Amino acid sequence: MFGKNGAGKSTLAKLICGFEKPTAGRICLAGRDISGDTIKERAQRIGYVMQNPNQMISKPLIWDEVEMALLAGGMSAEERKERVEETLKICGLYPFRKWPVSALSFGQKKRVTIAGILVQRPQMIILDEPTAGQDYHHYTEIMEFLKALNAQGFTIVMITHDMHLMLEYTPRAIVFSEGELLADTTAAHVLNDPDLVERANLKETSLYTLSMACGVEDPQEFTKRFIAYEEAHRKRQEG
Ligand SMILES: Nc1ncnc2c1ncn2[C@@H]1O[C@H](COP(=O)(O)OP(=O)(O)O)[C@@H](O)[C@H]1O
Ligand SMILES: [Mg+2]
Repeated sequence: MFGKNGAGKSTLAKLICGFEKPTAGRICLAGRDISGDTIKERAQRIGYVMQNPNQMISKPLIWDEVEMALLAGGMSAEERKERVEETLKICGLYPFRKWPVSALSFGQKKRVTIAGILVQRPQMIILDEPTAGQDYHHYTEIMEFLKALNAQGFTIVMITHDMHLMLEYTPRAIVFSEGELLADTTAAHVLNDPDLVERANLKETSLYTLSMACGVEDPQEFTKRFIAYEEAHRKRQEG
């Protein structure tokens, strides 16, 4: 989801999660109208990850934070343990399971908040600016993690201003302006429409700025190639 401040991105996320009530229309999840579902019922299917993990985390220990959402659900201690372990493994946090949250980096804390939501096995996760304020290394780490979750069948919805992220990771782009839907299209289409780029409030990437400064003729192509090169390099390192 893209759009300037005040465009209505967070409001839509809150409507979907049930924190706000719509004045008109329906909200459907996989074809079923969820308007009558409570916040609690929705939370089992739709997770909302706030921008700042420090606002979401309430327990001193990673394990407790991730287990928290399961405590009210009537699972046995054994079932909870199994589910928490599985979730920590998905999130790459298993080695840290006995650690205090305070020992983690910002990106790792973000993973803890995502784990706290994934532990409920939602169908869909909404993330408000998941990479804001991250350096390139942590940005890549978070995005590759979300990509892997998506490949495992979780639907990922992101709110972002980052053009690079949009180009590399998002097949579908939804642009808002002044509380209204402006476009529901592909990332490529938005990037080729200067008016949409403006209204989506997309931030030029540093690669774009660099290529302009160096007189590269086609900065978009340069950015694409850089991303492809880097991805291949990462795969070689992992492989
Ligand atoms: N469709 C809408 N109808 C009425 N008010 C809206 C609508 N979308 C947004 N608003 C109002 O606009 C303000 C900013 O919206 P918000 O969702 O926080 O923007 P964003 O997250 O895109 O910066 C909120 O106070 C919200 O109540
Ligand atoms: Mg917002």
